[in-house]
Amino acid sequence: MQTSLTLDFLGELQRTHSCGELRATDEGTHVVLMGWVHRRRDHGGVVFVDLRDREGITQILFHEELDPAVHGRAEELRPEYVVAVEGKVAPRGPSAINPNLATGHIEVVASRLWILNESRTPPFPMEEEVDVAEDVRLKYRYVDLRRPHMQRNIILRSKISFAVREFLYAQGFLEIETPFMTRSTPEGARDYLVPCRVQPGTFYALPQSPQIFKQLLMVSGFEKYFQIVRCFRDEDFRADRQAEFTQIDLEMSFPQEERVFEVVEPLVHRICEVAGVKVQYPFPRLTYAEAMERYGSDKPDLRIPRMHPVGDLLPELANAGMPLVAIHIPGTGAPSRKERDELRALGQDRGLRVYDDVKRLERDYPLAMAEVRGRCSAGDNDLLLLATWAGEPKGHRPEETAYQACGQLRLAAAQKFQERHKLLDPRNFQFLWVLDFPMFEWDGEEQRWNAAHHPFTSVHDADVEKLSTDPARCRAKSYDIVLNGVELGSGSIRIHRRDIQSKVFAALGFSEDEARKRFGFLLEALEYGAPPHGGIALGLDRLVMILAGENSIREVIPFPKTARGTDLMCEAPSTVPERQLRELGIAIRGQEK
Ligand code: AMO
Repeated sequence: MQTSLTLDFLGELQRTHSCGELRATDEGTHVVLMGWVHRRRDHGGVVFVDLRDREGITQILFHEELDPAVHGRAEELRPEYVVAVEGKVAPRGPSAINPNLATGHIEVVASRLWILNESRTPPFPMEEEVDVAEDVRLKYRYVDLRRPHMQRNIILRSKISFAVREFLYAQGFLEIETPFMTRSTPEGARDYLVPCRVQPGTFYALPQSPQIFKQLLMVSGFEKYFQIVRCFRDEDFRADRQAEFTQIDLEMSFPQEERVFEVVEPLVHRICEVAGVKVQYPFPRLTYAEAMERYGSDKPDLRIPRMHPVGDLLPELANAGMPLVAIHIPGTGAPSRKERDELRALGQDRGLRVYDDVKRLERDYPLAMAEVRGRCSAGDNDLLLLATWAGEPKGHRPEETAYQACGQLRLAAAQKFQERHKLLDPRNFQFLWVLDFPMFEWDGEEQRWNAAHHPFTSVHDADVEKLSTDPARCRAKSYDIVLNGVELGSGSIRIHRRDIQSKVFAALGFSEDEARKRFGFLLEALEYGAPPHGGIALGLDRLVMILAGENSIREVIPFPKTARGTDLMCEAPSTVPERQLRELGIAIRGQEK
């Protein structure tokens, strides 16, 4: 950039106050402020500058009468120039007071001005109200991060991280680092690989989580571990997923599930407090089976009422052996014919048969429908739908498939009428625990069982025998913490005995040999006095996203990637020179000579 301005040096100059600090009581104080020119207004003989830093905005006044030279320089200022100003705090006249600004009762009458740096015209204005395309924001992220809501989000995130550390240290947890260059982790999603130059043909994997290492730290006797840690997963991106994201990861020795909840609930309470949100704990608890039956989801949104099975009242409407479910959304008003058609189509898309004509049902089945209404506490002004699975039962737990489809219809219906009932209020924070997940999920493609959480999760003591006979019905000692329909965190009591770990591997179809190859070091560690242990990991990005009232985790990550995995600012991922590949012993397919 060619500069026509003479820029000043900072020299020994020091700032005395932030731009958010000065009040009427500071009248007469000599101050030095430093920051960015947020806005400049010229009023013949007077230049007003809104000077901005991290803490706020202060109005600066340059009077031509006071010092024509300084005033002249102020006329050269443009948005985002970096300046230092020396001056005196003065009260504003009554008509000039800005009650929306913390510093709105004062201004600083400038006696000196240093222009420390100029700026090209920013790609978009700093004003909050201005809507800017996300790809432009991400390309100029360093400018975007100056905008007030991004400053607020990143500062909130930092304060939450600090509060987490403070809280967990006070509870006797130690912050211990685990490696970023390691070998594959067990979560099942895909690893990012890092080639090892000194051993050509070999790769490190970036950790999908510190799961195995935190378990090893328990074997090593550290008893209470935590880490605010980056994890890497080569998954598809979504609004609540990034390839690199941050977990609040913790692990304890000798806990029952209850002990983990006793740590996490006050921790979450403290985090919410930092965000100015009051929550009550203990949080409600549902087993996985209850969550499925009542909400058709393992991450229920409790802001909308539960569903009710009503097959006992209207058996003739239920598809053979499958549940009949009443979906109730209060405060929607009677849906129009068109809306009912749309709801029916939403259900059909999910494999459901939907009974949307409640008036007709009430004519045909007056007594049963009165009971349905009573069971749901559904009033005349509410939406009531009945749904059952339409086709052949599907999956290893077919009822679950049906409940899940009903749960999706429930959410879709709630979203459809949000403007009327306003139940999905982002400032209403409904936490809960979901417990007793199934141990295994059937992988139809591979025709085998997968670990629902990860293969180191304990099975319920009562279900150990079912590991070999009825894997579909084995419950795990695992738990999720859920907030407003989002899975915030996941954890479990782990397997600490080698014999039980072998049984679980067998149920997963790993031979001893395979298991040894993949997780040999962990299996061996279990043979050297591994204590009972368990823990959890909370998604920091998701937590901050919800507390900040945002819809995407990209809004709370300073330098996120786009939905296609690109960093638009530094243009990653990128190709690398052939020489670099050669040194790593790597050839790209299709480029091989
Ligand atoms: P899990 O895989 O469930 O468990 O992850 C824990 C939490 O991390 C967050 N999370 C993500 N956030 C953003 N982007 C992603 N791609 C992403 N993936 C996961 C979620 C999730 O609930 N080792 C176990 C935990 C344990 O058992 O202690 C684990 O990683 O909020």
